[in-house]
Amino acid sequence: MSLMTDRNDLACIEGVSLQAIAAAFGTPCYVYSRAALTAAFEAYRTALAGRNARICYAAKANSNLAILNLFARLGAGFDIVSGGELARAIAAGGDPAKVVFSGVGKSRTELRQALEAGIFCFNVESASELDHLNAVAGELGRRAPIALRVNPNVDPKTHPYISTGLKSAKFGVAFDVARELYHRAQALPHLEIRGIDCHIGSQLLDPQPAAEAAGKILELIDSLAADGIRFSHIDIGGGMGIRYRDEEPLPAADYLAPALAVLAGRTEMLLVEPGRSLVGNAGLLLTRVEVLKHGEEKNFAVVDAAMNDLARPALYDAYHEIRKVGAGGTASEKAIYEIVGPICESGDFLGHDRALALAEGDLLAILSAGAYGMAMSSNYNTRPRAAEVMVDGTDMHLIRRRETVAELLALESMLP
Ligand code: LLP
Repeated sequence: MSLMTDRNDLACIEGVSLQAIAAAFGTPCYVYSRAALTAAFEAYRTALAGRNARICYAAKANSNLAILNLFARLGAGFDIVSGGELARAIAAGGDPAKVVFSGVGKSRTELRQALEAGIFCFNVESASELDHLNAVAGELGRRAPIALRVNPNVDPKTHPYISTGLKSAKFGVAFDVARELYHRAQALPHLEIRGIDCHIGSQLLDPQPAAEAAGKILELIDSLAADGIRFSHIDIGGGMGIRYRDEEPLPAADYLAPALAVLAGRTEMLLVEPGRSLVGNAGLLLTRVEVLKHGEEKNFAVVDAAMNDLARPALYDAYHEIRKVGAGGTASEKAIYEIVGPICESGDFLGHDRALALAEGDLLAILSAGAYGMAMSSNYNTRPRAAEVMVDGTDMHLIRRRETVAELLALESMLP
C-alpha cells in the first residue's frame, strides 16, 4: 500500500482523517502509515524469500524510533552512518548484530562505540579507515568485521547529488585499488574480512545499473579468490526509487531480479540497504495555508511548513505532489500557485505552479515525504521541528511531539 493515490483529494490515512490529526497535533505534521511501511518491507522480504538475505534499513531516510522499532520487529537490520544512528537503532530494539556501519568519515569514537556494541560489519570507505579501525579494535582486544565499500564506477543515471558509485564520488574505494586494500586489510591483525559492499546511488528506477554493479563485484571476488581471500556476504546497498510524480518504479522483486540473477549461487549471504523505498511513500507532510497572496505575476500560497521541515525541493529541486485535504475550504476556482513557506529565502518553496482551489486555512498534504523529510529537517529561523504521527488502522499515535521554542533556547548560553 502506498499513500500515493489517484484521487484528487485525500481525506484519510488508513482509518484516520487527516483533519482529525491536524486538529489533535497541529501543523506542520508528518504522518506515516504503519500498513504502508509494513507493506514496503514485506515487498523486499518476498523479493528475497528463499535466500539467506538481510534487509538493513538505511536509518538515515527516517530515523524516528517508532519507525526503527517497527522495522526491527519485522526482522530488519540497519544500515547506519553515525554513532547517533547506532544509539537510535539500539534504543529502538534493533539487534546490533544485524547492523552495518557505512560512511566516509567515521570517528574513532564511533568506531569504538560500534565495536563495543558488536555490530555485524563495518563498511569501510578508505585506506585510512582500515588503519583507524585496526588500531581501535586492537585497543579493545578485538577483531573488527569489515567489508570494503567498492565503487564499481557505474552510472546510476540519477540526480548528481544522490549518485554515489562513480569514480568521482567521495564515497567508497576505487574499484582498481580495492584488491590491494583487501590485501592490506588481510595483513592487519585486528581486522577480519567478512564481505564486500557497494551502493551506487539513490532514487534509481532502472534496475540495470545495480545488476552491472553486481557483475563488477563478482569480478573482484573472483580475482581475490585467486589470492585466497574469501567473503561470506555481498551487500548491494540501497537506492531503489519511488514514485514522486509520474515515475514508474518497479516492484521490489522486479527491481532486484536482474542483480539477483547475476549473483545467483555466488554468495552465502546477501544484504540490501533500502531507505527511501521503505518509507518514502508511507509518509506525508500535513500543512495549513496561512496566507494567500495574489501577486501581479504569481499567486503564492504561504503554508506553515517550510524548507526547514522538508528540504528536498530547495535542495534538489525535488518534486513532491501536493493535494488538498478533503473537499474543505471555500474556494472553488483553481488557480496556479507557488506553494511556499514563511522562511526568508527565495529557495523556500515546496512546489511550483500547482493548480489548486485554495482558501486560507485549508489543509494540504505534501506527498511522498516519508523519506529524507523529517530526517533532514532543521531549526532554521528558530522554527521548532514538526510533530510526527503514526497511523495504525483507526488509531493515531504521536511518535514525536512538536519541539518548543523554549527547548531550542535551552541549549544555548550567553557570555558571563
Ligand atoms: N546505503 C548507503 C551507503 C547510502 O548512502 C544510502 C543513501 C542508502 C543505503 C539508502 O539509499 P536509498 O535506498 O534511500 O536510496 N537526501 C537524498 C538522498 C540521499 C541518499 C544518501 N544515501 C534525498 O532526499 O533524495
